[in-house]
Amino acid sequence: MALRNIVKFGEDVLKKKCREVTVFDDKLWVLLDDMLETMNEANGVGLAAPQVGILRRVAVIDVGDGPIELINPVITSVKGKQREVEGCLSFPGQWGYVNRPAKVKVTAMNRYGKEFKVEGTELLARALCHEIDHLNGVVFTDLADEMVDPETME
Ligand code: CO
Repeated sequence: MALRNIVKFGEDVLKKKCREVTVFDDKLWVLLDDMLETMNEANGVGLAAPQVGILRRVAVIDVGDGPIELINPVITSVKGKQREVEGCLSFPGQWGYVNRPAKVKVTAMNRYGKEFKVEGTELLARALCHEIDHLNGVVFTDLADEMVDPETME
């Protein structure tokens, strides 16, 4: 495994729509392993492939309950609303309030190409939306209705 460089805001790669994964080979597994290691090293709760310069529909999340690997994820249902502060490993030191669904259901594939479903509320719901947005070239600062001064955060 290896750490990858995290692309920072201002880079075009963060604004591009990613392509679906069609080949579930060892190259994909190395990418997933590297993304998890890179996310953990940076103390993040999620990381999407474009953040390491790869325009494929791949993301990893760990909100404290163990890693989730998402390939070609699709949000299949949303319910309710929440508005919380988000950040992003590609936007160090920037935080902002984003409106998200309170609950989301996602269908994705695992690293072997097998479909699975994941449901999230609270932080996991936000992370699922945030990472899937990345795969469509959308970053949280596009959606934030209010940016937060980190000095005033508790
Ligand atoms: Co992000």
